[in-house]
Amino acid sequence: MYCLGLMSGTSVDSIDAALVKITEKDLDLTIQFVSGVNYDYPEKVRQTILEVAGGKPLSMEAFAQLDEEIALCFVEAVNQIKQNYPTIELIGSHGQTVYHRPPMPQKLGYTLQLGRGAIIANLTGIPTVNNFRVADMAAGGQGAPLVPKIDAYLLAHPQHHRCVQNIGGIGNVTYLPPKQGNHWQDQIMGWDTGPGNVLIDLAVQKLSNGTKTYDKNGEWASLGQPDSDLIEQWLQQDFFQQPPPKSTGRELFGAEYLEQCWQEAQDHHLSESDFLATLTDLTAASIAQSYQQFVEYPIDEILLCGGGCHNLYLRERIKSHFPPNTMVKTTDEVGLNSDFKEAIAFAVLAYWRYVSKLPGNLPQVTGAKQTKLLGDIHLPLD
Ligand SMILES: Nc1ncnc2c1ncn2[C@@H]1O[C@H](COP(=O)(O)OP(=O)(O)OP(=O)(O)O)[C@@H](O)[C@H]1O
Ligand SMILES: [Mg+2]
Repeated sequence: MYCLGLMSGTSVDSIDAALVKITEKDLDLTIQFVSGVNYDYPEKVRQTILEVAGGKPLSMEAFAQLDEEIALCFVEAVNQIKQNYPTIELIGSHGQTVYHRPPMPQKLGYTLQLGRGAIIANLTGIPTVNNFRVADMAAGGQGAPLVPKIDAYLLAHPQHHRCVQNIGGIGNVTYLPPKQGNHWQDQIMGWDTGPGNVLIDLAVQKLSNGTKTYDKNGEWASLGQPDSDLIEQWLQQDFFQQPPPKSTGRELFGAEYLEQCWQEAQDHHLSESDFLATLTDLTAASIAQSYQQFVEYPIDEILLCGGGCHNLYLRERIKSHFPPNTMVKTTDEVGLNSDFKEAIAFAVLAYWRYVSKLPGNLPQVTGAKQTKLLGDIHLPLD
């Protein structure tokens, strides 16, 4: 079956569309990546999303307009793939997160992804599953991360302890124990590690007066030196210390957070490139610290994916926090496209929901009380 996964993450850089061919035999899935496109939001839509995600209030009328515009952008992304691959049979659309509130004691979490599934289904003529996070949250979970079950399918190794680290706007990891015995899956773990690229992107925009949106290949940061005292201080913050299950977003790691880091960096007399090096190393150090705190085994291999893979300085900093025998590579090196892995995951989640009727969440990862079927199904017009 040809399934299309649609994802736009916290970076709001583009809508990633990944077409996969899923073949099922004896309940085992083979997932083959066929094609992918990145569809850029029109600048005005992107700006509005960033403003709303940054806490700007919106009238219901403006909200409705934004929800619809995002859905139409997702439809455009589908159409681009459809030009070359007309036989898409199912869509799994993550949508665009504009708000994420993790659960708190005595209070369920709340999460909101825009880009209405019913519109995507009607305009493309393809059954569409969306709103994947809501059912897990209603069951007491974080609604995130949702990729660990797919990572386990695609990336578990018979002998190695692996960490699959996605570096999007926010970072998230799946710890995969060696695939041995009947209970290896019970030991899978996953959590949001904290900022991925989000603070780096915000800082680059600030320092370049809006002329740049990200630190290409980490070149700017590589001219500076990270301030290890500041990083150590920042890592004391509650989010980094909190054990999983945990998830986060721009609500915590956003413009306000960056401003505070900037003030402290100025007290430490950091140059612009030192500041970027320090933020980049915060991402790397927070990843490494979380593995040391929460995984009781030494990690043999770290498999990186997401846009942060392209930041060479960040990769270097990640390596520096692990012993030399820890292999750090990208998922491409083990046969899985690192730029489209998250979009691929939503194609598989849609397949589990619509075809297999199998739960997509792992309660030990999200903290949900039980496994749940994830996502709302929208059928196209007859
Ligand atoms: N060549 C590059 N050099 C440095 N950073 C890059 C490069 N290419 C992409 N990036 C970073 O990756 C980010 C986009 O990554 P990605 O699309 O994985 O994140 P996302 O949209 O937040 O996704 P998700 O939430 O699904 O993880 C960009 O905002 C940028 O910071
Ligand atoms: Mg993206």
